[in-house]
Amino acid sequence: MQTARRQFVIVGGGQAGGWAARTLRERGFSGRIVLVGQEAHPPYERPPLSKELLVSGKPSSSSYLWSSEKLKDLEIDFHCASSAAAIDRSRHELRLQDGRRIPYDRLLLATGARPRRLALPGTDLPGIHYLRTIEDCLTIRQALASAERLLVVGGGWIGLEVAAAAVTLGVPVTLVEATDQLCGRSLPKQSATYFLDLHTARGVDVRLGAKLVSLKGPEVVERAVFADGSSLRVSNVVVGIGVEPNVELAVECGLSVDNGIVVDETTRTSDPDIFAAGDVASQPVDVVGPRHRLESWQNAQNQGIAAAKAMLDEESRHRELPWFWSDQFDLNFQLLGIPDRSDRIFVKGDPCTGRFVQFFVANQRINAVAAFNSPRELREAKRLMLGKLPFDASSLSTSAVVQ
Ligand code: APR
Repeated sequence: MQTARRQFVIVGGGQAGGWAARTLRERGFSGRIVLVGQEAHPPYERPPLSKELLVSGKPSSSSYLWSSEKLKDLEIDFHCASSAAAIDRSRHELRLQDGRRIPYDRLLLATGARPRRLALPGTDLPGIHYLRTIEDCLTIRQALASAERLLVVGGGWIGLEVAAAAVTLGVPVTLVEATDQLCGRSLPKQSATYFLDLHTARGVDVRLGAKLVSLKGPEVVERAVFADGSSLRVSNVVVGIGVEPNVELAVECGLSVDNGIVVDETTRTSDPDIFAAGDVASQPVDVVGPRHRLESWQNAQNQGIAAAKAMLDEESRHRELPWFWSDQFDLNFQLLGIPDRSDRIFVKGDPCTGRFVQFFVANQRINAVAAFNSPRELREAKRLMLGKLPFDASSLSTSAVVQ
């Protein structure tokens, strides 16, 4: 392809956008690459924000996808702290909030997601935080230094990791989850129970089925009020109740959107010159079933790379087993695949030791694997899963079936 005079534009300076920009250059694209990012940072990885960075409070250069020298070498025209406002598809033009217009031959939307806001009286009081950016992380870290009791709203990954970090820093924590189990979006109850036991054992006051109705000040948040009339004195709140994909640019220019921006397995949207990748993209995940938005480090990186290849008209199919990890206290948890609530669950190892594996099986095939402090076990399971090979429960040295 004659690339020298072409201009590729990427909206979103997160992990997916960053990897796409870098891949374009590394695969020989010699045209102009424009990267528009809302944050005042070059692309960085988010997992440490709810884990080690939240405990240490010390940002590390290794979180960034590239050094400033590398950024120069890549010759990326990087507009940081800059927001895209609209896409004019007929003119092949991106308009920025400040009025500038940037023409594109191909456009990648890697706009990510934003934390879902808690809609209750009192949620705009100082002391109530959301976690998505480096600044959010450092603000929460600072608040934890003098917190008397942290209220975590939401028992998903963000909530659990923040609770673990706060306890590690010596802060008493109450965690409220609206449903009757932790991590209900991604795990069946049989897996979530382990997280409940772990956090309870470490002193987290976990309240399932808790209905928070308001937060009260008067000047800063001081009290959480529940539907049963009870209330709790708190000094800080972190809300982790899920994310919403940043689809507005796509919706307004008429791209197909269904929870996320609809893409095919090459990352192409309903417009052949526009691509989408990362948390914002709703993709067919054929290894595990229907269309999904995958909110993970793995997907942000690899779908970003796949998008760059597709923009260059290289053969590129983004198909992989979803993989996700979380670190909480001394637990390293990894999940491969997406468990289905109807799967039979086989357990290898003993949960009491903190090292065990759950295999989620349907029709003799492994649908997903959850590894608790057992990273090596994933490798063998992955081989079986990718090969669609039958699962043999008798091969497990210790096995229990959980219905
Ligand atoms: N009160 C209490 N809990 C609530 C409320 C509420 N009003 N609303 C929702 N929840 C609960 C949900 O039931 C769910 O268990 O919040 C939890 C949110 O969990 P996730 O969907 O896992 O979202 P979150 O933890 O915010 O993670 C967001 O960050 O690290 C990434 O992979 C993670 O992409 C994900 C993102």
